Amino acid sequence: MATLVRIAAYLTHVFYGEAQARIHHERFGALARDAAALILERLTAAGFTPSSARTVVDLGCGSGIYAACMADAGYHVVGVDISAGMLEIARRTAPSADLTLGSVHDFPLPRAVAITALGEVLNYATDARAGFDALTRLAARAREALEPDGTFVFDVSTPGRGTYERFHDGGDWALGMHSTERDDQTLERDIVVFTRGADGTFVREDERHELRLYEVDDVHRMLEATGFSVETRENYGGTHPVLPGWCVFIASSRSTPR
Ligand SMILES: C[S@@+](CC[C@H](N)C(=O)[O-])C[C@H]1O[C@@H](n2cnc3c(N)ncnc32)[C@H](O)[C@@H]1O
Repeated sequence: MATLVRIAAYLTHVFYGEAQARIHHERFGALARDAAALILERLTAAGFTPSSARTVVDLGCGSGIYAACMADAGYHVVGVDISAGMLEIARRTAPSADLTLGSVHDFPLPRAVAITALGEVLNYATDARAGFDALTRLAARAREALEPDGTFVFDVSTPGRGTYERFHDGGDWALGMHSTERDDQTLERDIVVFTRGADGTFVREDERHELRLYEVDDVHRMLEATGFSVETRENYGGTHPVLPGWCVFIASSRSTPR
């Protein structure tokens, strides 16, 4: 009950509602799948063997695509998401994962070999606490929770993301987005979704997402100061396109002091 009250306080408007959650799952899963392939490879290289005694944490788990890949590989998966619509799909997609409705900024981190926040999770200002200070606090918690040679992996939008429009057609749905980068290092996305109902007519839902943008160098310095070895990448590999103003961070907890 307390969690529901908190979620109601974050969500003053629809955020990844039922329609957008379904569209994300159907059309935008490539990033999570690419990230899972890369992270599984990195964990193996670091000497971890998948086991139900080894935990991976997925912050902003969305519809559970990454969680399902990691559970299928043999890891124990825990995750959190602020969208009830996403979580409902995630529980079907990754039934063995332990998934919670809530904000990453409240979620207690268990001992883990990998902690992820994939798909701009840490940019979203849906929880008003989001921002560089919150990212710094989360990085410190992740450093504390990770096993030696564990990894904290996330991507963020950065200044330079730009102002652009996108349109996607899924047959029984259509999604249009206008994304505006502002001078105060925020990105505002106006999204319109049409989904075909049982009677054949289309129903419209509007969402507005606000994202806080972070400078790559600031994040890099902050992670190093927190005790991570840091690698940046343009994407997770695979099929996801390289985007302007977007960066992947792979932060490894060193097993020995520098
Ligand atoms: C672009 S989706 C990515 C979903 C998933 N990680 C993936 O890669 O498929 C962003 C996700 O972040 C979640 N999110 C945003 N802010 C959050 C917060 N403060 N706490 C938990 N989840 C959050 C959204 O609900 C949404 O599911």
